[in-house]
Amino acid sequence: MSGFSFRSLTFMLLVAFLLWSSSFETCNARRGKHWRSSRTISASLSKKKGKSHSSSHHHNHGGGSKPKAPSPPKPKKGIPTTPPPKNEDNGHSTIFNVLDFGAKGDGSSDDTKAFQAAWAAACKVEASTMVVPSESVFLVGPISFSGPYCQQNIVFQLDGTIIAPTYSKAWGSGLLQWLEFTKLVGITIKGKGIIDGRGSVWWQNSPFDDPIDDESKLIVPLNNTVKEHPPLPISGELGGKMPSIKPTALRFYGSFNVTVTGITIQNSPQCHLKFDNCMGVSVYQMSVSSPGDSPNTDGIHLQNSREVLIHGTNLACGDDCISIQTGCSNVFIHNVNCGPGHGISIGSLGKDNTKACVSNITVRDIIMHNTMNGVRIKTWQGGSGSVKGVLFSNIQVSEVQLPIVIDQFYCDKSQCKNQTTAVALSGITYEKIRGTYTVKPVHFACSDSLPCMDVTLTAIELKPLQESYHLYDPFCWQTFGELSTPTVPPIDCLQLGKPSSNRIQSDHELC
Ligand SMILES: *[C@@H]1O[C@H](CO)[C@@H](O)[C@H](O)[C@H]1NC(C)=O
Ligand SMILES: *[C@@H]1O[C@H](CO)[C@@H](O)[C@H](O)[C@H]1NC(C)=O
Ligand SMILES: *[C@@H]1O[C@H](CO)[C@@H](O)[C@H](O)[C@H]1NC(C)=O
Ligand SMILES: *[C@@H]1O[C@H](CO)[C@@H](O)[C@H](O)[C@H]1NC(C)=O
Repeated sequence: MSGFSFRSLTFMLLVAFLLWSSSFETCNARRGKHWRSSRTISASLSKKKGKSHSSSHHHNHGGGSKPKAPSPPKPKKGIPTTPPPKNEDNGHSTIFNVLDFGAKGDGSSDDTKAFQAAWAAACKVEASTMVVPSESVFLVGPISFSGPYCQQNIVFQLDGTIIAPTYSKAWGSGLLQWLEFTKLVGITIKGKGIIDGRGSVWWQNSPFDDPIDDESKLIVPLNNTVKEHPPLPISGELGGKMPSIKPTALRFYGSFNVTVTGITIQNSPQCHLKFDNCMGVSVYQMSVSSPGDSPNTDGIHLQNSREVLIHGTNLACGDDCISIQTGCSNVFIHNVNCGPGHGISIGSLGKDNTKACVSNITVRDIIMHNTMNGVRIKTWQGGSGSVKGVLFSNIQVSEVQLPIVIDQFYCDKSQCKNQTTAVALSGITYEKIRGTYTVKPVHFACSDSLPCMDVTLTAIELKPLQESYHLYDPFCWQTFGELSTPTVPPIDCLQLGKPSSNRIQSDHELC
């Protein structure tokens, strides 16, 4: 009991630090969807479909000895009965296999309750492991694996497949995430398993409040470059219309030292993997996979998170491979393959006159193939705050429409009102950006009132995919900096040095 409250006190102090140091920034979620707490549906998803002979399904799965047709342990005041111990650690089990908590893993029974029970048990043991064994498919509804009263350093060992429900009832009036981990200290998801959002049932309803993220306004005069989205398959499910709010597949909120490795996240209804208010994030050797025409399916989304390392990942999706939002700093991304997708983006920032702060971002050793953008910074007019200290280095592009983009006029309508304030951009370095483009090599559109400063270009070599196309030349507006080497093509539009009227940092730029 006393250890319990000591731990929660420790956590609250950590959270207080995290909140304090992120300056209570507004969650500037793109497309205007602010994070809100949403009650996870914990009720059973569906009536169990008849008598499923589940045991025939997993004879020799990786879960070790499987109890015969386990009846779900009856929780006594939320405490599940102790499963047969697998690993003894001073007499306490540290391994919690969902099969021992009544999960069927047959791909059709609702295993949500079993996952909740396994988590409740794992939560109580420091450095415990919750096991989702291989060769089984678990249908799991929206669920929150949450602290703050959990012990530290829990491992979620995912070797099997987790699938999302595809009937609308499971999602109520709409949830912002499907699998959520919140308020934890030291949480690792690892294994060779798959998280499958089965998003196709969500993709075809095109909500009108959900503008498609693209830079098509930069491309429009060129014919036949922007393809219409092909019609998406009609849902085969008889589950009714899906809610307009689409969930992120896997989201971490308010946690310290989060690791995601090994797994594949695929076909999310919306963003695949999101970190919000997290400190110390490590993502490596994992994949995101969904079709290039699936709407708004970002790969990895970072917001209000610091000390982030992402490397050795393959990201293929229908929107930004990685999106870095407000409140992010000390982010290091390297050795990532991106495509299809919209590239790696900082922003959009400053929507609805909000303040955005992003600093110390390194993106290097990236391969992009068949993406809309390469590396992009996008801000709305009317925002405040700043983006400072960004390095894009060694980015290999092939068949990328717009390899290098700064767009301070980001707008989801045909036209947005011009405003005088802007998120200030400075110290943006591009080096070794090489390969082929299909529309325009460089597009720098900076704010009239706050020009971009210290934009440095080194060893840029961008060639049109086919010389015969009519292509755009590099474009710059209010962009100041230097060319350290000659570039291909020449980027004559960059204004060397600093703006003549010495820009004085104003209060609203301070972060
Ligand atoms: C682009 O399409 C428009 C309308 O279809 C046409 O009028 C125009 O000539 C085309 N431009 C080029 C460069 O092909
Ligand atoms: C996170 O991990 C680092 C390195 O292992 C450690 O020093 C730090 O104390 C951890 N943070 C928390 C809040 O446990
Ligand atoms: C910038 O971020 C890197 C991680 O990418 C970190 O090692 C470095 O200490 C940070 N620099 C500052 C000044 O915080
Ligand atoms: C807004 O500003 C841009 C850049 O100065 C300019 O090209 C554009 O015409 C302006 N739009 C409106 C609606 O005034």
